[in-house]
Amino acid sequence: MLDTQLSPSELIALEDRYGAHNYHPLPVVLCKGEGVFVWDVEGKKYYDFLSAYSAVNQGHCHPKIIDALVSQAKELTLTSRAFHNDILGKYEKYIAEYFAYDKVLPVNTGVEAVETAIKLCRKWAYLKKGVEANKAVIIFATGNFHGRTLGVISASTDPSSTKGFGPYLPGIEVIPYNDIPALEDALKNPNVAGFLVEPIQGEAGVFVPDDQYLPEAARLCKENKALFIADEVQTGIARTGKLLATCGNCNCKRHCENTPEVRADILILGKAISGGVFPVSAVLADDEIMMCIKPGEHGSTFGGNPLGCAVAMAALEVVKDEDLSINARVLGEIFRTRMQKLIDRSDLITLVRGKGLLNAIVINDDEYSSTAWDICIKLAENGLLAKPTHGNIIRFAPPLVITEEQLNECCEIIEKTILTFGAK
Ligand SMILES: Cc1ncc(COP(=O)(O)O)c(C=O)c1O
Repeated sequence: MLDTQLSPSELIALEDRYGAHNYHPLPVVLCKGEGVFVWDVEGKKYYDFLSAYSAVNQGHCHPKIIDALVSQAKELTLTSRAFHNDILGKYEKYIAEYFAYDKVLPVNTGVEAVETAIKLCRKWAYLKKGVEANKAVIIFATGNFHGRTLGVISASTDPSSTKGFGPYLPGIEVIPYNDIPALEDALKNPNVAGFLVEPIQGEAGVFVPDDQYLPEAARLCKENKALFIADEVQTGIARTGKLLATCGNCNCKRHCENTPEVRADILILGKAISGGVFPVSAVLADDEIMMCIKPGEHGSTFGGNPLGCAVAMAALEVVKDEDLSINARVLGEIFRTRMQKLIDRSDLITLVRGKGLLNAIVINDDEYSSTAWDICIKLAENGLLAKPTHGNIIRFAPPLVITEEQLNECCEIIEKTILTFGAK
């Protein structure tokens, strides 16, 4: 074992020496988290305004979720799906009813759930739509981010995701995001199996489409017998001020205020489904679609493991019990209003956009500049952790358990920091 007394720079050097260089983290070394706060190894406290890319919606180390983890870990952690276990069925009922779908297919990471949805959609197209074998096409949107597997990057339009990793998966068509005529046109192809889309594009820089985009897209898919697939890995679980950003057909009177807009044929969830405590992801669909996959055709050793099931149930309970959707909605409004006022005082930011507590500010510089990075370094010095999504965009996504008082304090940190870079 290594000496635990290493300095931050020594710990960073270890990662640099022994870890692959596939990330570019901010130079902070964290060792503890609680609620909206994280601490570095020197004891400095920060507001976490990334929430592990929206996985920690319930706050760091939520006691209810940690209790579920610990007590399940003492009983049974993994059986594989070669056998039944005493929690999987209970979890499947719980999550299926929670999101109002017939069935769930449990997997582990976000991208694994996206891959699963793609396979399910193709299978459905061959079995139910009558698409000729190996001809199925899935439509994606420009600027998408669905993870890092080869299948998924085959649909990416971001060169940093794709360059040097070809050849790519066939059967993909990419159309502009937030463009209904383009979708209408693409759906004319009878081989289209489905349209896979993020309700808000998080990684691209928190792009919120027009209000009518998702309902219209779902309607067009239905009209053309194609599946509407929502990737809510980042937007789901209360982040955008509703249980789901699509918020379809659920009867949950409390946590989404019953404002249904769109019900996806296939719903993809990950990240906050387990509150950042354990990798859990899920694909939800009704029987007509889900039953297209038969025993032995898809699976994962860890998918639906007892530990993940216990953690996810506890994490989803917290979302309801603590009214996280409502908190995200109310505090999101306050955040954007304050950032809007900051725009009036600073030449450096041009725009704030987002929904609930998934927001971004756009910096008055080009996409390849280091300005957003420099601001994030300064924010960290001032006690708030955030990360650029591009050279000129900073995403702000705190845990949804943040209070109004804490949010106001964070706005002050952001305002103070931005104004040191440039006031009007
Ligand atoms: C919309 C969306 N889909 C899929 C993924 C991939 O999730 P994971 O990193 O858990 O594989 C992400 C990750 O950021 C995401 O934002």
